[in-house]
Amino acid sequence: MEYNTYDFGLVGLGVMGRNFILNVADNNFKAFGYDLDAEKVNALREEGGNTKKVDASTDIKTFVNALARPRKIMLLVPAGKIVDAVIDSLLPHLDKDDIIIDGGNSFFTDTDRREAYLQEKGIHFFGAGVSGGAKGARKGPSIMPGGSKPGYKEVQPIFEAVAAKFNGEPCVAYLGPKSAGNYVKMVHNGIEYGLMQLTSEIYDLLKKAGDFNNDQLHETYKKWNQGRLQSFLVEITAQIFQQEDDQGNGRLVDKILDRAKQKGTGKWTSQNAMDLGIPVPSIDVAVSMRELSALKEERLRADALYGRPVVETIAQNKLSALAEKALYFSFIITYAQGLHQLADASKEYGYDLDLATIAKIWRAGCIIRAALLEDITKAYKEDSELPNLLLSPSFVDKVSSTVDAARELVSHAAKNGIPLPGLSNSLTYFDAYTSGRLPLNLIQAQRDHFGSHTYERVDVEGIFHTEWGE
Ligand code: 6PG
Repeated sequence: MEYNTYDFGLVGLGVMGRNFILNVADNNFKAFGYDLDAEKVNALREEGGNTKKVDASTDIKTFVNALARPRKIMLLVPAGKIVDAVIDSLLPHLDKDDIIIDGGNSFFTDTDRREAYLQEKGIHFFGAGVSGGAKGARKGPSIMPGGSKPGYKEVQPIFEAVAAKFNGEPCVAYLGPKSAGNYVKMVHNGIEYGLMQLTSEIYDLLKKAGDFNNDQLHETYKKWNQGRLQSFLVEITAQIFQQEDDQGNGRLVDKILDRAKQKGTGKWTSQNAMDLGIPVPSIDVAVSMRELSALKEERLRADALYGRPVVETIAQNKLSALAEKALYFSFIITYAQGLHQLADASKEYGYDLDLATIAKIWRAGCIIRAALLEDITKAYKEDSELPNLLLSPSFVDKVSSTVDAARELVSHAAKNGIPLPGLSNSLTYFDAYTSGRLPLNLIQAQRDHFGSHTYERVDVEGIFHTEWGE
């Protein structure tokens, strides 16, 4: 190992870290890894062994000394206290203007705190969301950096080389100051939760109301993936239905327990949307459904207590055509809610986000990549101040021509006892968001009635209070 020659350092050689560092080396940058786990270090050295471009160590001094200055050190370690511990272990070995990048799913306020802390010590810090799982990290992820701009400039050539490409353009861009990168990645994950919920409940509907078997489900999602629903999540869903159980019991999907876990980013999106006062019900319900799925024992008890309607089936061709439209409609609504949240957070936190750029870097590499993002990019390019995608003239026809399918499926599912929480919330959100008048005048009246909270009028300016009589 030669001192001060490696272009890039990576802390945390787990699945994401190992794949990311090999990607860096594939792109002709010398990269050095660090992990306390000797097995991980040895595995990386073996994997990258036939090239002088990758090396690794369990010794922090060796790691830091290997790196050219300013040192560019990316952390791919679990979010939370470990990030602070790693930063503190690195600090005594670093020099002014070195750069630390947090590539994990850190909570955005932690990133703000760390940036301020490191700024005092002359270290550039930025949070960069990395999406695309292990394969993405190896072959090209979507990267969402924010924070220290001078720090980012130093790493930009490496990130642009390793990121996924869409029509030759790298799926990475500096998104804004402070925790902008982690915030955008958090909302990316909220949208991810929403889209996953939708694809899973439509699968349930196709099975229950159309008797689709796994081969038919595979064919259906595969066909959808060749059209306007083309997306990573629809693509892998099609594959999942074909996977045989390695224990020899038919298809694997049928053997998987219906209890979904979560690491928290979807929940954070919902929680922060509430703080901002931006409605994201398609994301909220996706989080709630993971929580509800965890209540397996209670669900089984309740299942035994209550009857269920006998499901009236719909012809497969008709059902899949309706489902394709409804899924497209609700995908749009889910992206619209997430982007609405980003537009508002941008003002609230001073991120100065450009939503067209965000949609652009989501077009490849990340989990929510989809053909739709090309249309979304165009919509925000046409109007960068668009508060909500539903207000874009280019989306009116896409939504108007698919909403009736959502209505038909939601009402059929409701009558037949099939839960479609993502679709029904998306539909209700759409109906409410497009209502010039909502019944919230009554809520104001109630508030004024019981608590003298006052109200405004539609016809006269001012604040009013009434002594409500019987
Ligand atoms: C990505 C993903 C990833 C996330 C997993 C698991 O963009 O590559 O969002 O960062 O960690 O999807 O998330 P949950 O455990 O919360 O489902």
